[in-house]
Amino acid sequence: MTVLVAYSSKRGSTAEIAETLAATLRREGLGVCLERAEDVRSLEPYDAVVLGSAVYMKRWGGEAKHFLKKHRKALRQKPFWVFSSGPVGDPANDNPDWIEPPKLAEKVDELGGRGHVVFGGRVPAEPRGLMEKAMAEGVPERFRDRRDWDEIRAWAAEIARQLVLIRS
Ligand SMILES: Cc1cc2nc3c(=O)[nH]c(=O)nc-3n(C[C@H](O)[C@H](O)[C@H](O)COP(=O)(O)O)c2cc1C
Repeated sequence: MTVLVAYSSKRGSTAEIAETLAATLRREGLGVCLERAEDVRSLEPYDAVVLGSAVYMKRWGGEAKHFLKKHRKALRQKPFWVFSSGPVGDPANDNPDWIEPPKLAEKVDELGGRGHVVFGGRVPAEPRGLMEKAMAEGVPERFRDRRDWDEIRAWAAEIARQLVLIRS
């Protein structure tokens, strides 16, 4: 069984989440391909799909949105899971409106997606441009990288477990 892990990442932190998901799925005994969302031509070679994107200004990356659209027919026929990565800063101040792109959960449901999780994100170590700099300045050091690797690995292990059940 081969799983595609596809992602959209501007500054690398979502790519690292996708790498960890892929490594965990491999450790669980699955075949895995890790690709940037825009590099995927066809889902034909894959039995299951994990798609993720960084969230910027309440939106998924264009490549991930395009992936959902381009491959919608194939996605309807395969088990697939979705993750977003975004929230940084003090979790007490998380704004639900910013965490999950509006309508994404609806779209994933409509295509038969088996789950959507939101992982914490990371402020770039070397912020570029006014927006990133303004954002980075307001975030205390300890909340700059909110990716929880145990949570990320556990989610991948759960996907592997479900795939075994689907197969049997
Ligand atoms: C300008 C800007 C806007 C952002 N907007 C959101 C947002 O709407 N929701 C959210 O959860 N995170 C937001 N973030 C945090 C990013 O999603 C986070 O830094 C993420 O880890 C970036 O992923 P990447 O390194 O893969 O590009 C924003 C970050 C920046 C710099």
